[in-house]
Amino acid sequence: MKLILLGPPGAGKGTQAQRLRDRYGIAQISTGDMLRAEVAAGSPIGKEAKAVMESGQLVSDDIIIRMLGSRIEQPDCAKGFVLDGFPRTVPQAAALDKLLAGKDMRLDAVIELRVDDAALVDRIAGRFTCANCGTGYHDMFKPPKRPGICDVCGRNEFTRRADDNRETVTARLAAYHSQTEPILPHYAALGNLRQVDGMADIDEVTRQIFAVLDKLA
Ligand code: AP5
Repeated sequence: MKLILLGPPGAGKGTQAQRLRDRYGIAQISTGDMLRAEVAAGSPIGKEAKAVMESGQLVSDDIIIRMLGSRIEQPDCAKGFVLDGFPRTVPQAAALDKLLAGKDMRLDAVIELRVDDAALVDRIAGRFTCANCGTGYHDMFKPPKRPGICDVCGRNEFTRRADDNRETVTARLAAYHSQTEPILPHYAALGNLRQVDGMADIDEVTRQIFAVLDKLA
């Protein structure tokens, strides 16, 4: 199964990608997580990306395309992958087409999570993540079952992202509308695009996505 999850910041791409990974045994590839790991490691890519990410702009296509190209060569992608946060520009979508064609692979679906801009700031402001295993939570919409303890690994340390503030979210939303939305017609023309109501609650969104994918099987 080879999937793309598209949607604005806070639409639920990461949340749903984790569920798709678990259901299909495929790799979850988040270019945002990969960049945050580079920043944490202080690598040359991380040093270049840090300020760009904190301002809510997009990191250069060059860096992202190189990173993604080597990521999908990894053995955990053998059964497929769900791309979470890539492609985000027309050149990235073109590069992905070329990469997949070179491997004789095709996408099964591109799922667009549709969410009102107004809901996104609240979602992002309440988001936190387990520092150990990366499971995502929300203060109101998805708190851990036992307060302060990760449901998955049982650890008690959580992190919040540096770019999860009101000003940066506004810039990230603007980048989505101006640079990422223009790739939607490409996938609509290929017949891959499926739209899901991302305003529903988390389990209902998952149900809708699984229903879409079950129809493809
Ligand atoms: P990235 O990490 O990809 O961030 P993003 O696209 O802004 O998306 P988010 O991770 O903020 O949101 P999400 O859709 O995953 O939502 P989530 O599931 O967490 O990118 C960060 C930065 O890296 C970019 O700004 C850019 O600088 C750079 N970058 C990354 N990829 C790039 C690329 N390809 N090219 C160039 N630059 C790139 O959900 C949010 C919260 O809401 C959570 O707390 C969750 O629990 C909750 N929630 C989820 N679904 C629901 C629901 N249905 N109802 C209620 N709450 C919900």
